[in-house]
Amino acid sequence: MDLSSREARAYSKVLNKLRSDLPDKGLTLVELIQELHNAFDTDVVDIDYVQKLMSSYRSNPQDWKKYAKFDRYRYTRNLVDEGNGRFNLMVLCWGEGHGSAIHDHADAHCVMKILQGELRETRYAWPSTEYTDSGPEDQELREIEKNTLCTNDVCYINDSMGLHRVENPSTINPAISLHLYSPPFSTCSIFNQKTGQRLPCKVTFWSKYGERRNREIQENRCPEDN
Ligand SMILES: [Fe+2]
Repeated sequence: MDLSSREARAYSKVLNKLRSDLPDKGLTLVELIQELHNAFDTDVVDIDYVQKLMSSYRSNPQDWKKYAKFDRYRYTRNLVDEGNGRFNLMVLCWGEGHGSAIHDHADAHCVMKILQGELRETRYAWPSTEYTDSGPEDQELREIEKNTLCTNDVCYINDSMGLHRVENPSTINPAISLHLYSPPFSTCSIFNQKTGQRLPCKVTFWSKYGERRNREIQENRCPEDN
C-alpha cells in the first residue's frame, strides 16, 4: 500500500469515528446547517450520513422559532437555507388538521424531521400507467404504509419508495417539521387518491430566512404542495 492510500484510509477512519460520534454531539441548528454544507460539498452525497446529521440535531425552539410562521388555512413552507444550491432546508408549519396532497419528490432526496408535535405520513404506490383510448385509466392509489412521527423522529423518502401524504392529525396542537430536499426543486406532482390522476404543482415559500414574503406570492401557492 502506498502512502497516499494509507493516508486515505487513516482519513476515512477518522471521518467514520467523527460520524459515529455525531448522535452525542448535540448540534445546534446553526451547527447542523454547517455540517450539512460540509456533507454536500462533494460530488457523491452520502444520504445515510445526512439522515444521521438530521437525527443528531435535538429540536430546540430557540433555534427555529424565527422560521415558524403559520397560516390559518394551510400548512406553510419557510426557507431556512439554500445549501449552496445543493439542497434546500426549510421549516414546515402545520396548523391543527392541516395536511399535504399526495405528492412525489421530483427525483430528489427528502429527509424530514419533526421539531414539534406529531405528523402522520401515509405512503402510496405509484399508479400503474394503464391507458385507455381516452387517456390514463383511473385507478385508486394503493396505500402501502402509515407512520406516526413524533418530536425528533426522522424519516426519508425518494421517488423509488413511492408517494406520500403528510398530515397533522391533531385537532388541538400545531406541528412543525424540518425538511431537507436535494437537489432543490420548484415543481413536483400531486395525485388524486381516488383516480391516480397526476397534476404538476409549483412549490413556493411562505417566508424566506425568517422574513414573510409579500401577500401576492403567498396567495399564488398551488392548492396543495410540498
Ligand atoms: Fe414529501
